[in-house]
Amino acid sequence: MVSARGRFLGAGYYKVLADALVRLMERPHRLADLGCGEGYFTAAFCDVASEVYGLDISKVAVRAACKQSRGQFVVASTMRLPFLSGMFDAVTVIMAPTSPDIPRILKKGALLCRVSPGERHLFELRELAYSEVRAVKQPPMEIDGLTNVSCEQVRFKILLSSDGLVDLITMTPMQFRTSKEFRERISQLDEFCVTTDFRVDLFRKDS
Ligand SMILES: C[S@@+](CC[C@H](N)C(=O)[O-])C[C@H]1O[C@@H](n2cnc3c(N)ncnc32)[C@H](O)[C@@H]1O
Repeated sequence: MVSARGRFLGAGYYKVLADALVRLMERPHRLADLGCGEGYFTAAFCDVASEVYGLDISKVAVRAACKQSRGQFVVASTMRLPFLSGMFDAVTVIMAPTSPDIPRILKKGALLCRVSPGERHLFELRELAYSEVRAVKQPPMEIDGLTNVSCEQVRFKILLSSDGLVDLITMTPMQFRTSKEFRERISQLDEFCVTTDFRVDLFRKDS
């Protein structure tokens, strides 16, 4: 999954999202990317923040992340963060779990950016894979100790090559939740156009 995700992101399919997040984070001094995976987004934040830390529970992912940016990386769980209180101006959690420990590591006035799949994420692919697919409206998100300041949608279409398509399936739970017939059919397509849909919630620590 880690290598598939590395190849997929390296091909630039999610660059629109990376650019949107970099704009949103407003040049923080010290940023932590929690559940950073192989560090694609962490590397993008290195262009705008002076100190960047990436954290992931997977040793394999962190090893890959160390190779692609000047950030500092740690293998740990977001549930028990190995950081001092009030250390960060910004924290990002991109398609990864949040935890009640996050507000503690934010400075007063600091931002948390949480990215999760939107209701139409990979919709065309899910329609091919499953007999029933619904676009489920998500409720407002709340995190104790933080104020939700905005909720944006980043939605764009990507034209996947056959390799990109296989990598996308391999890096998501679809790898385990789809039939062998579906994966064989997919592997014979030359390209596939799919909607990506991300929900970007921004929270601030007010006190
Ligand atoms: C879908 S991947 C997203 C990776 C990266 N943020 C990105 O968007 O490219 C989810 C990541 O969360 C990590 N993860 C899952 N549970 C975690 C936890 N409790 N603490 C830290 N990382 C975790 C996984 O190892 C995986 O790398």
